[in-house]
Amino acid sequence: VTTAPQQYVVLGSFNVLPARSRADLISLLKTWTAAIAALTTGVPVGPSEERENAPVDTGESADQGPSRLTVTVGFGASLFDDRFGLAMLRPPALADLPVFRRDSLDPTKSGGDIAVQVCADRQIVVEHALRNLARVGRDFVALRWRRNGFNEPLSSPAGGSPRNLFGFRDGTSNPDTSDDAVMQRNVWVPASDGPAWMVGGTYQVYREVHLDIERWDDSPLGDQEDTFGRYKLSGAPYGGTKEHDVVDVSKLPATSHVRVANPRTGPESEAERILRRGYNFDDGFDASMSRYRAGLAFIAYQRDPRRQFVTIQQRLAATDELTRTYAVHTASGLFAVPPGVSQGDHIGSLLLQ
Ligand code: HEM
Repeated sequence: VTTAPQQYVVLGSFNVLPARSRADLISLLKTWTAAIAALTTGVPVGPSEERENAPVDTGESADQGPSRLTVTVGFGASLFDDRFGLAMLRPPALADLPVFRRDSLDPTKSGGDIAVQVCADRQIVVEHALRNLARVGRDFVALRWRRNGFNEPLSSPAGGSPRNLFGFRDGTSNPDTSDDAVMQRNVWVPASDGPAWMVGGTYQVYREVHLDIERWDDSPLGDQEDTFGRYKLSGAPYGGTKEHDVVDVSKLPATSHVRVANPRTGPESEAERILRRGYNFDDGFDASMSRYRAGLAFIAYQRDPRRQFVTIQQRLAATDELTRTYAVHTASGLFAVPPGVSQGDHIGSLLLQ
């Protein structure tokens, strides 16, 4: 959640197979915890050198080391149905997201029981990690959908936040992950919110957002900059000269993305702020339409999506120029990410104990 964004992501959402029990779910999460520990240290997920057996680890990232690999596991609302006796433990904050204006969601690319976000600085490392987690978990879960994404390296020659496919720096105005007070207020679930198994965890919102690349590329620079309320090259807000200059909303167009996303009304909008950790995606070219299939894999973390993501997205869908003119949300997910695990523990142990 707080690791400086790696260059690549693959997000996989799994459904638990039919007729699996709560004990099976625990076995899966124990198996995955051990496999993730291996992957994050760059060692094979299991014995792979016996010539008479299929290698447990598929081996394609054997020479790459961990490459800053992180794996973040979250539970979708469907896990809390009647299959595993978890209904009473469903957090109120894991409420289904409303349908937003202009949403065009594909259910087969949305939702799922358990989401696994894999990030690393090499593409083959993220591909390998998800493929091997699916493999070692195949008696219990099946992949429902997956989403790849990429960012420019953190250390680009010019510095500054990485650019998205519209050419703008993205991630500038994020909560400071080293500021404990802000992280406690906006990202981590406190004991007062509950439930107990989520304390210290967070909620992940995923949105696949297709961007109208062709329309954007033919829009005048002035319109592009008005759309965000920031200058394209520097990333500075209107009225400023540097990327991290303070935003003065009175200088931004009323329908600009930055102003609508964060109207800077004081404590109210501060409490809404989310930790965005998105990636670009490129699904190739739709020859029949002569259009790119590309956009933003929006991923954000927060303490309570009901008063953070939902509130922001409702405003964006109503008045944001970017959302109204250039973007369509095509897939969605909301997952409860329990706190991380320490030695001897397994993912989700508090939920399933
Ligand atoms: C449609 C695809 C989107 C693109 C291309 C995009 C791009 C950007 C860019 C370039 C910025 C300004 C730089 C920055 O502060 O990072 C920004 C800011 C922001 N965006 Fe988006 N965004 C998109 C969708 C969303 C969605 C779906 C949400 C949440 C519902 C969102 C929430 C925010 C927030 C909270 C800010 C920071 C505002 C501030 O505090 O100044 N964005 N976005």
